[in-house]
Amino acid sequence: MTLNHKKVGFAFTGSFCTYDRVFPELERLIQNEADVYTIFSKNSSTINSRFGKAADFLARAGQLTGRPPVITIEEAEKFGPGNILDILVIAPCTGNTLAKLANGITDSPVLMAAKGHLRNNKPVVLAPSTNDALGSNLKNIGVLIAMKNIFFVPFGQDNYKAKPFSMSARFDLILPAISEALNGRQLQPVILGPG
Ligand SMILES: Cc1cc2nc3c(=O)[nH]c(=O)nc-3n(C[C@H](O)[C@H](O)[C@H](O)COP(=O)(O)O)c2cc1C
Repeated sequence: MTLNHKKVGFAFTGSFCTYDRVFPELERLIQNEADVYTIFSKNSSTINSRFGKAADFLARAGQLTGRPPVITIEEAEKFGPGNILDILVIAPCTGNTLAKLANGITDSPVLMAAKGHLRNNKPVVLAPSTNDALGSNLKNIGVLIAMKNIFFVPFGQDNYKAKPFSMSARFDLILPAISEALNGRQLQPVILGPG
């Protein structure tokens, strides 16, 4: 499945526990001939957690893509007027970023890139990972799933016994979800069975 030198924005937000599964998917896009620009939310570019240091994640993204990651709103704004990307994927997408995107809030580099890109009438693919997907964020997922140019990486309950409100994307489906979205289609089934 080649991405044929499409320009792909790959945006990280602060679901740090998923980074070890998301970075291999970034590598997979590059192996499949995507020309990738990474973008980090303010929190993802600054928070050091038990899952790793922010500086290490930024360095890894820069090494893989050959470009420094975009980490400021002013850099991210350029994706709009520059009409640079063919598609933008937000992976992982936190509950925080889902809620803001659904409500037109633009206070992080990732949200700024999404706003600029959507103004160009191009697709955004979301790979959610949040403990409140079936709680306070369900209404925002509902808003986004019905929104023009928004697509989802198929997602489902990742641990319904221990975390009954949590949902997470199947990150290994990022590439096929992008491929479908570039053709204006949602990869199906979008809602997966219990994990
Ligand atoms: C160690 C750690 C793990 C986190 N994991 C998640 C997560 O999996 N999903 C989520 O929605 N938020 C998670 N958060 C909370 C977000 O980082 C927080 O909501 C932050 O404001 C997100 O900002 P952003 O969406 O701009 O990146 C986590 C926070 C920390 C410190």
